[in-house]
Amino acid sequence: MEFSVKSGSPEKQRSACIVAGVYEPRRLSPVAEQLDKISEGYISALLRRGDLEGKPGQVLLLHHVPNVLSERVLLVGCGKERDLDERQYRQIIEKTIATLNDTGSMEAVCFLPELHVKARGTYWKVRQAVETTLDSLYTFNQLKSNPSEVRRPLRRLVFNVSTRRELALGEKAIAHGVAISTGVQYAKDLANLPANICNPVYLAEQAETLAEHPHVKFSKVDEAQMQQLGMNSYLAVGRGSANESVMSVVEYCPPGLESQPPIVLVGKGLTFDSGGISIKPSAGMDEMKYDMGGAASVFGTMQALIQLELPLHVIGVLAGCENMPSGHAYRPGDVLTTMSGQTVEVLNTDAEGRLVLCDALTYVERYEPDVVIDIATLTGACIIALGHQTSGLMTPHNPLAHEILSAAEQSGDKTWRLPLGDEYDEQLQSNFADFANVGGRPAGSITAGCFLSHFTKKYTWAHLDIAGTAWQSGRAKGATGRPVPLLTQFLLNKAGIELED
Ligand code: BES
Ligand code: MN
Ligand code: ZN
Repeated sequence: MEFSVKSGSPEKQRSACIVAGVYEPRRLSPVAEQLDKISEGYISALLRRGDLEGKPGQVLLLHHVPNVLSERVLLVGCGKERDLDERQYRQIIEKTIATLNDTGSMEAVCFLPELHVKARGTYWKVRQAVETTLDSLYTFNQLKSNPSEVRRPLRRLVFNVSTRRELALGEKAIAHGVAISTGVQYAKDLANLPANICNPVYLAEQAETLAEHPHVKFSKVDEAQMQQLGMNSYLAVGRGSANESVMSVVEYCPPGLESQPPIVLVGKGLTFDSGGISIKPSAGMDEMKYDMGGAASVFGTMQALIQLELPLHVIGVLAGCENMPSGHAYRPGDVLTTMSGQTVEVLNTDAEGRLVLCDALTYVERYEPDVVIDIATLTGACIIALGHQTSGLMTPHNPLAHEILSAAEQSGDKTWRLPLGDEYDEQLQSNFADFANVGGRPAGSITAGCFLSHFTKKYTWAHLDIAGTAWQSGRAKGATGRPVPLLTQFLLNKAGIELED
């Protein structure tokens, strides 16, 4: 897809399609008004006849509108002007893209960024339009012998902004939106691959490709090295699997920033989570190939960061591992000595993510990080708490919580803070080790966060539980690429990049 911005009037456009909004009830947006004028009332006559009410989701495709140079005009329902919010704006864009892609317009000039969305400016509207477009056009066809193809797919989209002054904003919005979407797409592709292809070694091979960029270095920690480092907790989880555990480290550092304390992103990379000896029920178990969604989002965010060439020192860790039952597998009751020296009693081998992450989080102490964020499909309880809309955020550090919540608000990639604290931590008490790896049913996401907090005392840290947001189930089953938009926004802010001006 190719995107550009323009500032012009609709009658001068010679394109396959012009996209213009119509509000409810039958109220023309300024562009639709202009088109109506040059066509001598053609559009308002259609609306009077009842062809389009302007409800959200409605579309009307017109051919050869009198005096209009473009071949088609696509009228898109936008609902009541006062009610137009962010979610509705994205839905309108989605509907527009689906219609254009299905009706053979290979290019279009889209005037929808001129709509009024509460408290949002041109930059936001163009960037969201780019991200929504690329998100909705994504398909995963790598493993199909005869993928169905669109005959005349949408190839070029021009966004029209109201004034020439906004062109630079629009261009920046496109650059950021495309970089984020590229990251999202990489994360989706990696996560959608099944576990018989995407195992920990494959994850590492993908991470290594990032080092083609001159400012990126790749290294990995294999099982032998983990042994030497005392990462017994991480090793225990992978012991039941025939696939080796591998932790990948991707370091992005533009010249001159070597001494800047890095931002470290640690992704849970369970390429398959069967539950191990505490095996999961079989219904829906295929979806546990997505248990590496955290690592996939680190991979995608590093892609976006490289494309944006932000002046930041960032280290991405992909904690690759597979949790399987076997004669070699770790068992309930086992006591593990973690890399930190703290001991853990395993009460459930299905609470494996925290066992892998705790050693990865101890490992990254060596970088003396500015901040560490771990991203993990960690608990089913997070889906119960926040559903599929919002990721869980846990951190003892208020300023970092605010930074992440702002990035969520700016990017539209939602997160919500859950508390941590000693009153929850008590649930992890064990008679046989420093802590148990599970804290019972109440507050399951929080006790998982508490568990990790014992391994992150040496730096500023936040935990994102993406169990509900990393993929969709049902008919539209597939990875979402979240939280790449959130993490990339966090990095844009860290780099001091201004958005709306
Ligand atoms: N990867 C799962 C969490 C998960 C489950 C994410 C379903 C998305 C959908 C994690 O490893 C796990 O199994 N967690 C257990 C923890 C429990 C044993 C304390 C869970 O949530 O049931
Ligand atoms: Mn599990
Ligand atoms: Zn898991």
